[in-house]
Amino acid sequence: MKLLCTGGAGFIGSHVSEAFLKDGHDVHIIDDLSAGKRANVPAEATFHHLDIRSTEAAALVKTEAYEMIVHHAAQMNVRESVKHPREDASVNIDGMLNLMEAGRNHGLKRVLFASTGGAIYGDPAYTPQDEDHPLCPVSPYGVSKLACEKYLNFYREEYGIPYVSLRYANVYGPRQNPAGEAGVIAIFIEKMLNGEAPVIYGDGTQTRDYIYIDDVVAINRAVMDIEGTRIFNVGTGKETSLNELFRQIQAHTAPSIDNEYGPAQPGEQMRSVLDISRAERELGWSPKTEMSYGIRETVQWFEKSQSRARTQ
Ligand SMILES: NC(=O)c1ccc[n+]([C@@H]2O[C@H](COP(=O)([O-])OP(=O)(O)OC[C@H]3O[C@@H](n4cnc5c(N)ncnc54)[C@H](O)[C@@H]3O)[C@@H](O)[C@H]2O)c1
Repeated sequence: MKLLCTGGAGFIGSHVSEAFLKDGHDVHIIDDLSAGKRANVPAEATFHHLDIRSTEAAALVKTEAYEMIVHHAAQMNVRESVKHPREDASVNIDGMLNLMEAGRNHGLKRVLFASTGGAIYGDPAYTPQDEDHPLCPVSPYGVSKLACEKYLNFYREEYGIPYVSLRYANVYGPRQNPAGEAGVIAIFIEKMLNGEAPVIYGDGTQTRDYIYIDDVVAINRAVMDIEGTRIFNVGTGKETSLNELFRQIQAHTAPSIDNEYGPAQPGEQMRSVLDISRAERELGWSPKTEMSYGIRETVQWFEKSQSRARTQ
């Protein structure tokens, strides 16, 4: 299949693009390299250095007539979205609409959308949060992702283009972006490798659902074979506290360095964990990666990239 993977120079999009290439798809990538790196783009992919909001990107979608858009390009920093909600909406909403308007009359048959399980539900009314949990995002980023899902529903109703929305929990692994929803992992690892003590804000009992990139790639592949429109949470269903996360990273980096504690961040959500039973039941997918393995792989990648940076 001829696919357009947006954000394919970024963390998740580059891994997903690699997997689709291995599966024999013809993969084109659009990325403006605002956060991604040219080096992350797989050599076999056709790369277009473009902003998803541009007329050039729209023209490309028309002339190439992609059958599917796998949409990972986004402004994905929750704090930035709070500071600059219009920029967040511009990239996340306008950018997607630009591609959808171009694709709807030019062969587009399906969309796979990278949504968020961490930010779309808002403060939990109950845990774990399933796909039917109320959608009350508390950040502009969560609002823009929700708007994208609603727009995709419009394109399905109006033009018959089905979509799959994957609501990712906190994704970590090699190439992860420290500004992302699992950015704390990158920040802790980088500090520990530099011999510095990371600071945990609050008492460290706040929990998140951390999922390793290989498991995220696996569900992207699993949904390629399904028909129609579906929404799936993508997490582990397990809560990990910041204290536990730090211990895991400490074991693989600098066991002699302890964390410090700082003042709690006002308004910080205390718990977040996704119910993943729909994806397990309907796709036969389940996360396979033990956290200790995932953290070790991630630490090794950061070690290698730090030593590459030192020798450059
Ligand atoms: N990492 C997570 O924990 C997480 C959790 C939930 C959802 N997501 C979603 O998954 C997707 C990928 O996230 P990621 O962690 O790989 O982030 P990332 O920043 O590594 O990747 C995003 C890519 O989009 C590109 N991009 C940004 N604005 C663009 C624009 N205007 N035009 C073209 N390209 C643009 C960036 O250069 C980058 O390469 C995002 O949509 C994000 O919202 C990520």
